[in-house]
Amino acid sequence: MAGKKRLNAPSERPSGLSQRPAEASASLICASSDLADGGDGIRFEAECNGLTAPAFAIRHGGRVYAYLNRCAHIAMELDWKPGKFFDTDGEYLICSTHGALYAPESGACRGGPCRGATLTGLKVFEADGKVYMRKD
Ligand code: FES
Repeated sequence: MAGKKRLNAPSERPSGLSQRPAEASASLICASSDLADGGDGIRFEAECNGLTAPAFAIRHGGRVYAYLNRCAHIAMELDWKPGKFFDTDGEYLICSTHGALYAPESGACRGGPCRGATLTGLKVFEADGKVYMRKD
């Protein structure tokens, strides 16, 4: 029909209504496709208790996990090169400083000087092909 306007065209939506709930309560980390199983992680800055701290996200067993980038042995960043968090088998997260091994799915120490400690986990989820960190 000539002259009749489509009211639901994206450019005509009032601003703010196009923001999805996932984006309102979470911060974007990366695209889901950026994280391969057992492959390189993505470094990002996480807001935690009112502070910003280095963090990383990885994929393991098809799921995404994220932790503060801080070894439980000494507060050093884990990756030996930016994004290199897995050991050579892609089975454990490994600290580049003294070789502490952590379970990717829980952050629990599985060997080395971390002795029963755990990485600080962050709440992450995937939606619409993207990885987010929950703000709450
Ligand atoms: S600082 Fe990570 S194992 Fe020592």
